[in-house]
Amino acid sequence: MKIVVTGGLGFIGSHTVVELLNEGFEVIVIDNLSNSSETVLDGIEKITGKRPFFENIDLRDKLLVQDFFVKHSDIDGIIHFAASKAVGESVENPLLYYENNLNSLVYLLQEITKLPHANFIFSSSCTVYGQAEKMPIDENASVQKAMSPYGNTKQIGEEIILDVANVSNLNSILLRYFNPIGAHPTSEIGELPLGVPQNLVPFITQTAMGLRKELSVFGNDYPTADGTCVRDYIHVVDLAKAHVISLKRLLEKQNIEKVEVFNLGTGKGSSVLEVINAFEKVSGQKLPYKFVNRREGDVIEAYASTEKANNVLGWKSKLTLEDALDSAWKWEQKIRS
Ligand code: WQD
Repeated sequence: MKIVVTGGLGFIGSHTVVELLNEGFEVIVIDNLSNSSETVLDGIEKITGKRPFFENIDLRDKLLVQDFFVKHSDIDGIIHFAASKAVGESVENPLLYYENNLNSLVYLLQEITKLPHANFIFSSSCTVYGQAEKMPIDENASVQKAMSPYGNTKQIGEEIILDVANVSNLNSILLRYFNPIGAHPTSEIGELPLGVPQNLVPFITQTAMGLRKELSVFGNDYPTADGTCVRDYIHVVDLAKAHVISLKRLLEKQNIEKVEVFNLGTGKGSSVLEVINAFEKVSGQKLPYKFVNRREGDVIEAYASTEKANNVLGWKSKLTLEDALDSAWKWEQKIRS
């Protein structure tokens, strides 16, 4: 079975490529290296003993996308990660996000729906829920007005897929991630944030490495147990495995509807302070931090209902917050050694 993984050298993409190769799939990675590096292929090969095919293609180039699918018309499925994903950057540069995240999706779908098998896994995000009224958040929670252009591209992306599936052979699963963290236990692949990390865990590990002076905790006056925001931090390897299970569901035609939605989280909320404490425990290091003002656009609390993913998809996260933080810390030490 031949599977295309767009953004396959990125954080979640590379971990998913590892799981696909381990399951015996033939994998073609498409990546434009805007937020990754070809050396990730070496890490994938070290873990699996196999090197996926790699094509450096920018999915905003319609002609290149068309040529690719003419060349590879025997594809069985596509997992689409390639997108810009920094919330703050999307506010400053919305057109970059609308062009990159939406044009790419349209060009992909135009070609995929010409294939005999249009099986499409879409990387979405819990950000579509905004601040949900009820915890844990299930898939029926209303999709709120996006709090950033990044979140809006995920919402619009889901709607494009629904509209196309209604009139084509497209079968799709939308995976709404909560907060992916961690790295592969071999420390051969992990998160490679460019510049100053926007997300909590890479900022923590870089602070612990002495690359950052201290962590700024964005607000401790929220209506939560300890005043800091709560999120559902899921190990990237658990998340990667959910993609393989989702793909198999489409390949084996087990999907009940043409477009299915699953929340991918652990079902457990952790506050920023709880993450800091867990990191100090696994690393044995005191983490310097200070409380600063809230960050614009942050929701107070978000953690997933795991019921549908467990009962319908047949997937459950297995790794803990400590496992994820331990793997992130080992990865940070490896890349700085
Ligand atoms: C987590 C918590 C911050 C950094 C975003 C996107 C989501 C997905 C993951 C792409 C929040 C706090 C953070 C720091 C802090 N993106 N924090 N100091 O915002 O929940 O989700 O990233 O797929 O779609 O919305 O993740 O890691 O940025 O923040 O206090 O230096 O950590 O306020 O409460 P977020 P995050």
